Amino acid sequence: GHIYLTRPLGDVVEQFRQQLPAQLRVHHTSEFPPDRTELLEAVRGAGAIISLVTDRIDAEVLDAAGDQLKVVANVAVGYDNIDLDAAAERNVTVTNTPGVLDDAVADLTLALLLATTRRVAEGDRFIRTGTEWIWSPEGYVGLDVSAGATLGIVGLGRIGMAVAKRAQAFGMNIVATGRRAHDDDARSFGVRPASSMHELLRVADIVSLHCPLTPETKHLIGAEQLASMKPGSYLINTARGPLVDEEALADALDSGHLSGAGLDVHEFEPQTNSRLRTMEQVVMLPHIGSAGDATRNEMAALAFRNTIAVLSGEQPLTPVE
Ligand code: GLV
Ligand code: GLV
Repeated sequence: GHIYLTRPLGDVVEQFRQQLPAQLRVHHTSEFPPDRTELLEAVRGAGAIISLVTDRIDAEVLDAAGDQLKVVANVAVGYDNIDLDAAAERNVTVTNTPGVLDDAVADLTLALLLATTRRVAEGDRFIRTGTEWIWSPEGYVGLDVSAGATLGIVGLGRIGMAVAKRAQAFGMNIVATGRRAHDDDARSFGVRPASSMHELLRVADIVSLHCPLTPETKHLIGAEQLASMKPGSYLINTARGPLVDEEALADALDSGHLSGAGLDVHEFEPQTNSRLRTMEQVVMLPHIGSAGDATRNEMAALAFRNTIAVLSGEQPLTPVE
């Protein structure tokens, strides 16, 4: 069976083309993913699918591919777009790209953290209006993150750790929940394990989400959690949109309970929330956390290596377990 790649991924494809153990077929445009009909047709008889976050790989797609399918290699660390149970039932290996994007996502997290607390995007929008202005002591005053503000990292894993490292350099206090909150690494970056999610929400000036999207984490941040957050605090999400109930977030911002939010991901991507879009104190980006040039190449390369390994009967480098 062939290898189906759901978008052209640039130079990396040429780099791997010669080594591939099967014929490569690539969807024709990087601008749009294959629509459902195209996807179901293109995977027929495939031995491997190299997918992106925009491709929903469920039982129907796996069945359309058929018995020859050995691997779905996602070019992302998150894999909520793939039905893992359906893959396991069909003996299809699923791989992702952990590790190679930690720094890129952590950098963008800090970009959003600073853009919201120091009102960067808001100030930029103001300048572009061409309005006459003069420096003012009250103009665009925001939160001093370096003066001992507390960052709450929800779901401290690889990316959260890279965020903690940066936050420590900024002089922030850091509390965290998650599987690595008690690690030595975490301690070395000044992380204090939170006693509970509720405690984290209560003490953090900025809450940043770094956990995967699963049925259990959907709406992890809803009306109740937002109400627990400190008055005047900020929410940053570079993980997955559905972790946050956007309508509840819009309410919390409207009421002034929260001072701002920085969102790289959205509950109903590619749709964005029309209320949040009108708010000056919200910074919204089009899911670009891993969009560093070297990072994107490394993600694609890792997906190709995983594909080659599985098709050659070897262990993939980074299987999803
Ligand atoms: C991007 O969203 C990823 O999961 O890598
Ligand atoms: C601000 O521009 C300052 O000079 O303090």
